[in-house]
Amino acid sequence: MRIPFVAGNWKMNTSRAEAEQLVKALIPLVAGVRDVHIAVCPPFPYLSHVVETVRGSVIKVGAQNMHFEKKGAFTGEVSGEMLKDIGCMYVILGHSERRHIFGEKDTTINKKVHQALEVGLKPILCVGELLEEREAGKTEEVVENQIRESLANISPDQMVQITIAYEPVWAIGTGKTATPEQAQEVHRLIRDWLQVHYDDGLAQQICIQYGGSVKPENAKTLMDQPDIDGALVGGASLKADSFASIVKAAI
Ligand code: 13P
Repeated sequence: MRIPFVAGNWKMNTSRAEAEQLVKALIPLVAGVRDVHIAVCPPFPYLSHVVETVRGSVIKVGAQNMHFEKKGAFTGEVSGEMLKDIGCMYVILGHSERRHIFGEKDTTINKKVHQALEVGLKPILCVGELLEEREAGKTEEVVENQIRESLANISPDQMVQITIAYEPVWAIGTGKTATPEQAQEVHRLIRDWLQVHYDDGLAQQICIQYGGSVKPENAKTLMDQPDIDGALVGGASLKADSFASIVKAAI
């Protein structure tokens, strides 16, 4: 049995006060929720404060990125060890905005996945195709390449620590959600890949989130699909009530 996992990616949003208000409003709304893993991923400067604010609640905290080296002369970067040190449990890696705005490649993302696991963070690995890739019939090929390369040399013991988030780039922040059938098709493909490259037992254990314009109105039909085990939520995670509704839709 896979436990659904709903995470909020706040991206580059909120002030310190707004971050605090958001989690303080969220805590009572999800307090009674069992059997769903819940995380929020605030911007770096607020991580520590959010970690302290959610302490004792069901909410865990993740970062939105990290560097692949342990430490050193990498001005402006943040290491996995630092994130672990301040109490993060998760780290989002390979988000489409990192790939397409900042030019992150799968080889870099693979190094980050290894480093995150090394320090005991749980990666949320994002994959997903561009609109032109979907229109050219390349969705399968693109997603398979992304998972193969970003999961290179990941052992079965490491793989069970990882969540995969399928986020079609054309659905992110656009209000255009993939249909449940379109999303299910790619989730199935990812699970089949895991089955072939690891085994069925492991494939059945891995949580695969959907991301891209997830809202309270569409969350349930998406997560009702057999291979959609949760959501990575952008815009709708910035409001406590809508994020809480999505969490409840995962039950
Ligand atoms: P939206 O939910 O705003 O489309 O963002 C999705 C996303 O990128 C989550 O990582």
